Amino acid sequence: MIPDYYEFCNSAKVVSGKGAIENLGFELAALGASRPLVLTNAQLLELKIATIVIDALADTDAEVVAVYDDVPVDSSVAVVNDVARVFSEKGADAIVAVGGGSVLDTAKGAAIVLTHGGDLMDHRGAESLMGRRAVAFIAVPTTAGTGSEVTSAAVIKDTERHVKMGFTALSLLPDVAVLDGRMTVKLPPRLTASTAMDALTHAVESFSCVQANPLSDCYARAAIGLVREHLPEVLDHPKAHAPRLALANAALLAGVAFSNAMVGIVHAMGHAAGGVAGVPHGDAMAILLPHGMVFNLPVAGDRYGELLLDLAGAEVYASTPADERAAAAIDAVRAMTRMLHERAGLPLTLCEAGVLPEQVPDIARAALDDGALSMNPRQPTYEELVEILKAAL
Ligand SMILES: [Fe+2]
Repeated sequence: MIPDYYEFCNSAKVVSGKGAIENLGFELAALGASRPLVLTNAQLLELKIATIVIDALADTDAEVVAVYDDVPVDSSVAVVNDVARVFSEKGADAIVAVGGGSVLDTAKGAAIVLTHGGDLMDHRGAESLMGRRAVAFIAVPTTAGTGSEVTSAAVIKDTERHVKMGFTALSLLPDVAVLDGRMTVKLPPRLTASTAMDALTHAVESFSCVQANPLSDCYARAAIGLVREHLPEVLDHPKAHAPRLALANAALLAGVAFSNAMVGIVHAMGHAAGGVAGVPHGDAMAILLPHGMVFNLPVAGDRYGELLLDLAGAEVYASTPADERAAAAIDAVRAMTRMLHERAGLPLTLCEAGVLPEQVPDIARAALDDGALSMNPRQPTYEELVEILKAAL
């Protein structure tokens, strides 16, 4: 059914596959840029992943004016401001961000400062982020999960106040997202599994949340199918480029879906479990996704039933009676998390992820305050959140 009203935007150009990175010179020129600052972290340089991009740029007319490799695991306000300073001092005209969510979000933060001036802290609140971005921005993700290369949001840590600040504006969307299987072949199985479950959760939640629309649905379903088909293949053959590229595409597709339709209760609880107990985001998604689906089942059963086709394939879908498909979809998610537990060591419960039973009330309270909850198809009470979290312990 078509919603009464919806909006959808994905203006990032996607360049995916063999030779995608070798096209960077052309993409920069198309954006009118020739002096990129490469933003990455030291580990990606050491693993010779970021160097693939730097070497490719060396073969173009573009001149890399700086390589900034000091991005921490959680991007911070200080680093964002420092990147903007180096960018200006070196006379750069583009950011080529090579990394996971933290590097890409740092690039988005620096773009805010370079566009609007001042300090990142001056720009909290979306109303100050209207207008076009002043610098060209190309994102080269090195994980297949966050979808940050196609989202208009960034999370930056205010290390002084110990809070994560969210920024949302269309000007944060990269100009170009570059996907290349070489970027993720060195991801260990555990991280591959965890980040893939983040992508899967983006897709499932965006499909069932109240802001879902026909366009985001297409992206979400395509993402789920790719994860189902290619995640086991990546675990079988971690060095093979083709299945890695498929997973990178899945993360991108899921990113487009949730950037437009938003997420829901699983992300609300996951953000809270991360803040209160330090549970890594993808692990929290893997543990909590089936529990969130069970809670949403009374209102989202039809939607989950549709997803059985993508989660389990045509044969299972066709042989499952219509009124059993939603439950079967949840079973398919559980089967996937069990497989990832056995093959990659992903935790199955919050206890396994280090959550203490006495932390449940704090997690429930934080989840209740999380913005992701606002688009969930069913609104939980505090008591219901406690029950869901206890079931996941
Ligand atoms: Fe996520």
